[in-house]
Amino acid sequence: MTFEMILTEVAAPGVGLVRLNRPQALNALNSQLVNELFAALAAFDSDDSIGCMVLTGSDKAFAAGADIKQMLDTDMVTMMTGDDFTDWSLMRRVRKPIIAAVSGWALGGGCELAMACDMIVASESARFGQPELTIGIMPGAGGTQRLTRAVGKAMAMDIMLGNRQLTAEEALIAGLVNRVYPVESYLDEALKLAGKLAAMPRVAVALIKDAVNKADELSLSEGLDYEKRNFYLLFGTEDKTEGMSAFVEKRAAAWKNR
Ligand code: CAA
Repeated sequence: MTFEMILTEVAAPGVGLVRLNRPQALNALNSQLVNELFAALAAFDSDDSIGCMVLTGSDKAFAAGADIKQMLDTDMVTMMTGDDFTDWSLMRRVRKPIIAAVSGWALGGGCELAMACDMIVASESARFGQPELTIGIMPGAGGTQRLTRAVGKAMAMDIMLGNRQLTAEEALIAGLVNRVYPVESYLDEALKLAGKLAAMPRVAVALIKDAVNKADELSLSEGLDYEKRNFYLLFGTEDKTEGMSAFVEKRAAAWKNR
């Protein structure tokens, strides 16, 4: 596959790296970039040699939001009939974990893209915000839902109505971000974390991701039932026998991902 607005590589054993690469627009998310991004994630997701993905931008900008210049002349009917934002739900179909490695601006759709990933590793310079109101619209790719679940109503309102931006440290405290590192090392740290995840038994990794994401959608009792089913399913895997045998025999497990 050839891409113009993203770069992809296998950056470490088992780790697929997708880098947004539209520096002149601070990685603003136009349709082409978004289509390329989802195609790359889908390709890594169906590649057996890959166990985890890292999604990053540049040190200066993860992404400064949806492309305002593209949206300027787009009317409501075109928005509704094109329904580009439905494609963002493709992110939810990716079974392998995606770690967002965020530095600089993560605004609007950029913040929403990071939140659609499973974990966020940030650089100290990362800034998270949802400034859509300042251009006359509102978040449309998950901001009102995912941000509220991540940081709570008070902070979410402040970010979306008060145009408050969170520093990396604030985002860490608020529960939006998993880990914060200096700009020089955040990507390496994200790749290291991804490498560790890629070396874990992949069926279990996928079922944990699946069950955690279901927590946003199900009641507690439905969620507990869902979790239990995933848990029982893992007793049908060779890796369950291997993992427990390795523990008892005091040796490292040799995962088969089966
Ligand atoms: N869309 C299109 N182009 C953008 C962009 C965006 N979201 N953000 C930045 N750019 C472009 C700028 O127009 C500029 O291009 P030119 O040189 O051709 O003028 C270039 O990127 C560099 O940007 P700035 O000169 O503005 O850089 P700065 O360092 O002075 O400011 C910034 C950085 C604070 C991030 C500022 O660019 C900014 O406020 N960007 C817009 C942020 C925003 O409102 N995002 C929300 C978009 S709506 C959305 O995302 C909806 C949704 O829910 C999906």
